[in-house]
Amino acid sequence: MDSSARTKIAPSLLAADWAEVGQAVRDLDAAGADYMHLDVMDGHFVPNISFGPQFVKALRAYTDKIFDTHLMIAPVDPYLEAFAAAGAQIITIHAEAGHHIHRSLRAIRALGCKAGLAINPGTPVSMMEPLLGEFDLGLIMTVNPGFGGQAFIPETLKKVRRLASWREGQGLDYEIEVDGGIDPKSAPLCRAARADVLVAGSAILGQGPDGYADAIQELRG
Ligand code: DX5
Ligand code: ZN
Repeated sequence: MDSSARTKIAPSLLAADWAEVGQAVRDLDAAGADYMHLDVMDGHFVPNISFGPQFVKALRAYTDKIFDTHLMIAPVDPYLEAFAAAGAQIITIHAEAGHHIHRSLRAIRALGCKAGLAINPGTPVSMMEPLLGEFDLGLIMTVNPGFGGQAFIPETLKKVRRLASWREGQGLDYEIEVDGGIDPKSAPLCRAARADVLVAGSAILGQGPDGYADAIQELRG
């Protein structure tokens, strides 16, 4: 990881007007988004339902930006291939979502995608340690997953710092992503803890299309 690299911003489409989401993707692309963050929820692993691979495939026509697909579903293995085929380039799964996460991460890479590993606020970062080298993106959830618009949980920053120190100490090169409650107040804390990718829903989409570029710039710092 090049520590001089600029912070990436991944708008979460959860906060978009879903009747106009194709246009939102175009606007976010033009406003400088690095990744499009797609939150997939099953009403079982998290208490909310969003969308599946067909929706991801439909959005593929609206941008060439990287699709950062955050799967909040269990089981996850039966759906990996469908998300890869739909055009997801990063597929992130939760450490809490299955008993064979090592196998699932390998399966994602075998599909030609980057593998992401996420942990909830209540999950110790030590869960990620045996899997170092098996993921390309480590996602520290900074809220409990399921909904946009929740308050940032500052205690999660310790886990961001730990992930960064493993990376530097062991010469690894995964990206570190944070997701939930990222706004102009929490973003500098995450950047200081050495997060590389900031996911933000309400803080960007809440500004309306004319405000997307400024909101992205402000979070990037
Ligand atoms: C929460 C999702 C987030 C969510 C973030 O379960 O993983 O990506 O959309 O929304 P904000 O930025 O509004 O907290
Ligand atoms: Zn997310």
